[in-house]
Amino acid sequence: MDLSWIDDAKKSILEKEKTVVTRNRGKVPYTTHNHRFDDRSGPDQIAWWTNGFWGGILWQLYKATEDPLYRSEAEELEKKQDQQLFNADALSHDSGFTWLPTAVADYRMTGNRAARNRGLLAAGNLAGRFNPAGQGFIRAWNGTSAWGGDTTGWAIIDCMMNLPLLYWASDELKDPRFKNTAMRHADTAMRNFIREDGSARHICEFDPCTGEYVRDYGGQGYGVGSSWTRGQAWALYGFTLSFLHTGAPRYLRTAEKVAAYFLSNIPDDGIILTDFRVPQGEPNYVDSTAAAIASCGLLTLAEQVEKDSDKDENERQKLAQDYRDAALKMLKALYDNFFDADPEDDELIEKCTAAYHDKEHEFTIIYGDYYFIEAIWKLTGTEQFIW
Ligand code: GLY
Repeated sequence: MDLSWIDDAKKSILEKEKTVVTRNRGKVPYTTHNHRFDDRSGPDQIAWWTNGFWGGILWQLYKATEDPLYRSEAEELEKKQDQQLFNADALSHDSGFTWLPTAVADYRMTGNRAARNRGLLAAGNLAGRFNPAGQGFIRAWNGTSAWGGDTTGWAIIDCMMNLPLLYWASDELKDPRFKNTAMRHADTAMRNFIREDGSARHICEFDPCTGEYVRDYGGQGYGVGSSWTRGQAWALYGFTLSFLHTGAPRYLRTAEKVAAYFLSNIPDDGIILTDFRVPQGEPNYVDSTAAAIASCGLLTLAEQVEKDSDKDENERQKLAQDYRDAALKMLKALYDNFFDADPEDDELIEKCTAAYHDKEHEFTIIYGDYYFIEAIWKLTGTEQFIW
């Protein structure tokens, strides 16, 4: 297999991003309009859940180049996020997405104590969202939701990607309480979100007083019983990371189960649509973010299966190869079809979809860019570990 496209992709990213970052100093982008980034750094939008990903891009670029431009932009963004960190109503379970690629990345790379403090405050908030009723779960959002009212008992599969903030805090403080909380949530997610066939639900509601399972919601996918592809990707990567951080084999088994389901649904062209279970005749839309996130999950899982003492060497190698091949297939499809190398355009990856039933589909979303870069960095050995 010719893999020279991986180095070509990296070269294009590095050449393009220098221009893009220089043109967009001080911004915190989510999407583009006419190929220009929007800016969510103002007080009314600084708490948007994706605002950490631009920081993640900047730190990954800094890791690869040591160019001080990227570091200073990332530091500026991190300070702006304090408006959110000190506003209890603006905090949700997304603290991992928000502060792992920013403050925690900064601390890991530079030892900045102010950044460590931010990361620990964010972890404290995330742990504080844990409801210990029954098996326990981390509450996703505040207030009410258009999908079904009061969210007090709601947890979502995406939260698996926020748990590494708790694992980091436990490591940092040499105190297992954050990790114990994360594992309680991961166990609840394993039992309630992952179906027999390895597919994942998006939203589960629990009775907030007893912790009993109430029902699930289709959320950002097609509907109840469907298979929202980004949710599958969050589950795949998230359980892999819970295994990476805890060594508990049940999380590895869950990640393998979700991965097997995901692999069996990748189409021949490697292009991932928004939901794997849209009824025939209904529209479906490309979601490049699902492909990029699942690829990062599979590349990480390929490394983690090497630690599996329940398998012999041949089984481990075969699984790892299958995961890598699937990731490469999806990444190549992204590169061939949806990669914008033009430095005049701010976006890197096209055709991302936030939610099936939204009015808009197939636009650019910053975490599509982020996870594509993370995947290419993993494949070329320059990744800054974020999760
Ligand atoms: N975490 C929300 C989403 O994936 O759109």
